[in-house]
Amino acid sequence: MEELERLPIPLLEWYHENARVLPWRSDPTPYHVLVSEIMLQQTRVTAVLDYYRRFLEALPTAACLAAVEEDRLLKLWQGLGYYNRARNLQKAARQVVEDYGGDFPRTYEGLLKLSGVGEYTAGAIASIAFGEPVPAVDGNVLRVVARLTGDAGDITRPETRRRMGAALRAVIPLRAPGDFNQAMMDLGATVCLPNGAPLCGKCPAGDFCRARREGRTGELPVKPPKKARRVEERVVFLLFHQGKAALRRRGEKGLLAGLWEYPNEPAPAEGALAAWGVRPRTLEEAGVGKHIFTHIEWRLRALAVEAEGAELPSGWVWAGREDLLGSYAVPNAFQSFQAAVEARVR
Ligand code: ADE
Repeated sequence: MEELERLPIPLLEWYHENARVLPWRSDPTPYHVLVSEIMLQQTRVTAVLDYYRRFLEALPTAACLAAVEEDRLLKLWQGLGYYNRARNLQKAARQVVEDYGGDFPRTYEGLLKLSGVGEYTAGAIASIAFGEPVPAVDGNVLRVVARLTGDAGDITRPETRRRMGAALRAVIPLRAPGDFNQAMMDLGATVCLPNGAPLCGKCPAGDFCRARREGRTGELPVKPPKKARRVEERVVFLLFHQGKAALRRRGEKGLLAGLWEYPNEPAPAEGALAAWGVRPRTLEEAGVGKHIFTHIEWRLRALAVEAEGAELPSGWVWAGREDLLGSYAVPNAFQSFQAAVEARVR
């Protein structure tokens, strides 16, 4: 594809002027690149920065990550969402330690064997940390390629991704594959913006972009309409006793597996307190919240309950301020109620 062949030189020039300064770029070891790329999946750069810094302070090497307790790991990940990413990251670190003697596999093919490392992440690590000329194709990159080449293939189809990946592989510069891939990511994130709002005047490919020339930037990339999310209405019980709040651990499988939560049940949740053996001394409305997951939307209504006694179902805990803030990983879905809880715990 002619447009793609013209891309590397102006793209790399643009990148050298405009690369975002990001912490994982200054010392791109395979561990740093792995951690950053996993955090950046489905999460914006600005949201990742603080997590990345804290994570590497706590767990500076793959060996540290391999050895850390799951609760501490989840606490470090708290708020980033998609928590299985954290578990897979730890599995990958354990593979590196146990199967590879502490050194990452140095090739795209070898990296693919690590837990949670798919074609995109393997491409990113291989190119950025090891200089292997392989593409790293994520949604941003697909958007850039679709527009640049005027490709109207559905980018959610493996066949389209393969075609675009192969086209990139043919033009990726041997001297700077990591810069090329990161330049594509930056271009997608800062110039070739989604939802029909690209800044074509600032684009290093603006002169030869097919979608721009043909007035099709609003139509590309092509993807199928999103499925509607299932809406779940739930009642969240903020249970308090002597300055502590009740938490329970979610199951080991499914949504938010293994994280801690304020007890909640499908609305109207009548009889929940009695079933748990909790006798309310006071009970008041404590606000509403909403949280959107990939396939589900939670609409939450909270009740604050001062419990008469300390009885809770087995496995639940009363958490004081320090444990609540420092030890238990409570997902963002409950963020709307955090102020109400913090006002009442000691
Ligand atoms: N998004 C995903 N990976 C990235 C990277 N390495 N740099 C910037 N944005 C990214």
